[in-house]
Amino acid sequence: MHTDSSPAIQQVVIDLGERSYPIFIGAGLLGDPATYEDLPASNTALIVSNDTVAPLYAQLLQRALQCHYSRVLQVALPDGEVHKDWPTLQLIFDALLANGCDRKTVLFALGGGVVGDMTGFAAACYMRGVPFVQVPTTLLAQVDSSVGGKTAINHPLGKNMVGAFYQPERVICDLDVLQSLPLRELSAGLAEIIKYGPIADMAFLDWIEANIEALLAREPAALAHAIQRSCEIKAAVVGQDERETGLRAILNFGHTFGHAIESGLGYGQWLHGEGVGCGMVMAARLSQRLGLIDKAFVDRLRTLVLRAGLPVVGPRLSAADNAGRYLELMRVDKKAEAGEVRFVVIDGPGRAAVRGAPDALVREVIEACCSA
Ligand code: NAD
Ligand code: GLY
Repeated sequence: MHTDSSPAIQQVVIDLGERSYPIFIGAGLLGDPATYEDLPASNTALIVSNDTVAPLYAQLLQRALQCHYSRVLQVALPDGEVHKDWPTLQLIFDALLANGCDRKTVLFALGGGVVGDMTGFAAACYMRGVPFVQVPTTLLAQVDSSVGGKTAINHPLGKNMVGAFYQPERVICDLDVLQSLPLRELSAGLAEIIKYGPIADMAFLDWIEANIEALLAREPAALAHAIQRSCEIKAAVVGQDERETGLRAILNFGHTFGHAIESGLGYGQWLHGEGVGCGMVMAARLSQRLGLIDKAFVDRLRTLVLRAGLPVVGPRLSAADNAGRYLELMRVDKKAEAGEVRFVVIDGPGRAAVRGAPDALVREVIEACCSA
């Protein structure tokens, strides 16, 4: 609900020509019918959510959408990264086909990054493409996954390996929904916010350091600024390189190590944001060992990740050859070229690059950053 003390509603635009779209950021947006004005016309909307988020927010969204669509359907997926797979994706197509949904049907992704990525992929595929709207309900989804059109499901051999680039019509970041988010999930979202500092904006890193307690306390003004600045940085990158032919890869800072942790432990053991938090420390350490940044920068980032409530020590993924197992998993990363792992490194404060590194050096970094 918007009150006089709520921050004003902000708008960030993803500029992609005819596929441009706005991100709305503010309190009370989700249940306000005005939020959904001027979307593609249709008789039918389908809310895709999960069995945790639907009981909290689906009715609110349903009521708002009923002002615009004569038929508002719902499907609730099983919750969890472990369900970001084909059988669960199929539940969305089942709901669409069982209800005779045509190619004008608008999908609404109500949930975190898992629901958003799966709904986007379903929208890209159903009848070769139907419109969809992101209504992200986690901090991570509001600052990253709902923006930029990456959609995917996991494969047992690699994370987000099957998917499509497919842009939403609109992104609705309602600050109120973040109040019900478990603290561990809030911290996971902070990882993706912190990421934008070292790769693009040192002033934002200073701001996050000064406001980390306010963010953990979920102060609306702090959250609104963090979401807005994160979306602005992501918008600038995606606007230049929508399909990750180059620059966009910098948004994966920490993800090469993080994805290895996530899939190595089994999806859902560590949260995506936890893998990214720890992965950023490992990638910073690698950058230091490559002579690109000094130790003080690594320590500074490590301290902030720790203050955000995130892990900074990697888990052991194999008793026999831990570093070897990390390397094996990292070779499945989408940035890998001809089997060579490529890392997002910090090559100066506020600047990132993508490059390979000798296996021996990577092994040394992994062993230095993992639990004994
Ligand atoms: P998630 O979607 O699993 O949500 C985290 C948990 O919070 C879930 O249990 C969910 O049900 C619950 N939840 C969501 N909103 C809630 C709320 N308001 N109140 C209470 N509980 C709530 O995880 P996530 O961190 O949002 O997203 C991670 C996923 O996003 C990963 O699969 C990752 O690969 C993907 N991702 C995609 C991109 C992209 O560009 N497409 C970027 C980053 C991450
Ligand atoms: N989360 C990384 C990207 O959107 O490219």
